[in-house]
Amino acid sequence: MKYVARSGNLAKTRSQCIVVPVYGGVSITMSAAAKVLNKASNGQLNKIIKRGDIKAKAGQTLLLHDIANINAQRVLLVCLGDLEEFDVAKFMTVSRAIIAALKPLSINNALICLTDIECTGHDITWKIERLIESFAAGLYSFTEMKGKPGPEDSIQEIEFFTDKYLIDEVKVGIENGQALAGGVTLAKDIANTPGNICTPTYLADMAKQLCKESKSLSLSVLEEKDMAKMGMGAFLSVSQGSAQPAKLITIHYQGADKNTKPHALVGKGITFDTGGISLKSPPLMHEMIYDMSGAASVLGTLSAIAAQKLPINVIGVLAAAENMPSGSATRPGDIVKTMSGQTVEILNTDAEGRLVLCDALTYIEQFEPVSVIDIATLTGAIVTALGNVATGLFSNDDTLAEQISTAGDTVFDRAWRLPIWEDYQAQLASAFADMANIGGSPAGSITAACFLARFTKQYRWAHLDIAGTGYQGSGPSKGYTGRPIALLTQYLRDQV
Ligand code: BES
Ligand code: MN
Ligand code: ZN
Repeated sequence: MKYVARSGNLAKTRSQCIVVPVYGGVSITMSAAAKVLNKASNGQLNKIIKRGDIKAKAGQTLLLHDIANINAQRVLLVCLGDLEEFDVAKFMTVSRAIIAALKPLSINNALICLTDIECTGHDITWKIERLIESFAAGLYSFTEMKGKPGPEDSIQEIEFFTDKYLIDEVKVGIENGQALAGGVTLAKDIANTPGNICTPTYLADMAKQLCKESKSLSLSVLEEKDMAKMGMGAFLSVSQGSAQPAKLITIHYQGADKNTKPHALVGKGITFDTGGISLKSPPLMHEMIYDMSGAASVLGTLSAIAAQKLPINVIGVLAAAENMPSGSATRPGDIVKTMSGQTVEILNTDAEGRLVLCDALTYIEQFEPVSVIDIATLTGAIVTALGNVATGLFSNDDTLAEQISTAGDTVFDRAWRLPIWEDYQAQLASAFADMANIGGSPAGSITAACFLARFTKQYRWAHLDIAGTGYQGSGPSKGYTGRPIALLTQYLRDQV
């Protein structure tokens, strides 16, 4: 998709479809852009609005053809709802409604007039980024696995209409928005690729490809024998039943001076989670192709920040393994030694995410990170607690937790904090080892985070549980959602 900044005389601008906002409330009122078109058409727009086909609710749209005296073929009216209540959530609703309305049309281009609408103090750059993010999501489809490619969307170019003096800001928004959308699309393609293709080796190949695209990205991959030397007994216990070798993939993004301490992102990269010997039940097992969504989000974020050329250093780690049952698989009751020296009694082989993450979290200590965020489809319990709306946020540092939740609010990729108080640690007690890998059914997401907290004492750390927000298992938007790439990208930008 090509995005362009445009200014000039709206009524005279050639376009296949101009998108103009109207306001809701008790009845529909016109935005400045709508007034321009209404005036040019001698009140035709007003007459149509009065007929009542567009309702006063945010996200309602009405497509009009051949409005008199204007140079656009079509006008798409989009309602923002009551302007007093126009917030980030409504902005996203409206953005998604616009692309949903444009997608089925036989148009090559459209002109969006939404940049001068006040939205809770957010600047024009933010608006353009959110629009591009929503448009890319609305137009995304995963057709790689189809025998024949489907029909392409006809829309090729989207213009953002603005006052001349704001053109440069719009251009910045376009660059940032495209960088983010590019990262999200990359991550979606990888996460949606099924487990027979997307193996740990495939993830390493994807990381290699990403690093080739940017001078500021470089790669190192640890093989199982390297991990064994480093004492990563927990990590290796997950992959030992699989024919696919595990990989610990590290990507270095260097946007600042070499000696600047990095931020670290660590993603759970279970390319398929059968549960192992503690086998999952069949109905939803196929969804476990998405158990590498955390790793995908790390790749997507690195792609976005590299394209945005953020002047910071970031280490991205993908803890990639496949969790399979077999004659060589870990048995419930096995005890393993982690890289940290602590031992773990594996009471349930389906609690494997924390086993790969704990060693990856110890591994990154050597980089002396200023902050560490791990991202994981870690627990079904987080879906019970927060549904598909908020990502679960856990942290050993109040400031970091605050920064992450603020970043999430800013880009409408929201996270909600849960406690990891010492009181919960007792649930992880083991008779024979230093800890068990499960803490029973009460507060399952919290005890999972408490497990990780035992390996992150050396640095400021947060854990994002995206089991509820990372993917949709079915429906028209089935697949990886791209979360929390927008949150992470915003967080890292805020650190500059
Ligand atoms: N990958 C799953 C978590 C998951 C569940 C993600 C549902 C998405 C949807 C994880 O490895 C797992 O199996 N967790 C167990 C932990 C339990 C055995 C303590 C769970 O949540 O049931
Ligand atoms: Mn599992
Ligand atoms: Zn899992």
